Amino acid sequence: MNKAKRAAVIAGNWKMNKTPAEAKALLEEIIPLVADAKCEVVACVPYVDLQIALETAAGTNVKIGAENVHWAEKGAFTGEISAPMLVAMGVPYVIIGHSERRSYFGETDETVAQRVRAAIDAGLKVILCVGEYLEQRKEGVTMEIVRKQVKVALGGVSAEELKNIIIAYEPVWAIGTGLTATDDQAAEVNHAIRELLAELYSREVADATTIQYGGSMNAANAEGLLSKEDVDGGLIGGASLKPADFAAIVKAASK
Ligand code: PGA
Repeated sequence: MNKAKRAAVIAGNWKMNKTPAEAKALLEEIIPLVADAKCEVVACVPYVDLQIALETAAGTNVKIGAENVHWAEKGAFTGEISAPMLVAMGVPYVIIGHSERRSYFGETDETVAQRVRAAIDAGLKVILCVGEYLEQRKEGVTMEIVRKQVKVALGGVSAEELKNIIIAYEPVWAIGTGLTATDDQAAEVNHAIRELLAELYSREVADATTIQYGGSMNAANAEGLLSKEDVDGGLIGGASLKPADFAAIVKAASK
């Protein structure tokens, strides 16, 4: 078993939910419930909530993340936020390449790779999301799609830099739909991602990389998914807004 070689990470993705006051209240509920977690706990929140989230979580085991980052250091990119800006605030984590960014905001494997580069250069920890659409799964090209997404996003990322990257396998058809990949479907793709990392880097590097599953992970199905050898944590959307459910997932990952 190689699971002991890598950190289990449960990360909430709050998406476009919660005002700063609501974010503070939600974190104040979550923090005591996950205080004895034996895994890393992260809450990725909207940009406007970052400051209050950092203040509320200071001195606790809950880490804060942003939900996206631009690839340039600064400049004429109205509405965007740079990696150095996040680092200056004290934000440690950022999600990159979420399928909602890819499908609603035109992000491509190439721009995802640029964002990863910028985040790593600035010293952020990255949660890199990959995953296939339902039609692609039906066509039997899941592995090709996911391999390409990982390969392009990690182009130019060294083995040393990969230590700051978590990969989240999120089948698009499972996100926010209540349809979860079966334990075996999640395990199969997560395993394929690890094998790709072994090809691109080395066995040792592959075994040390945290690979999450995301897509309707909840209090009821988390234990089964997380029991799989290659499922090292979860990226949690809907259930991360429900303190008891999120805490139950953290507990499942702490076993
Ligand atoms: P979900 O979202 O848990 O609501 O399916 C997961 C995600 O989008 O990261």
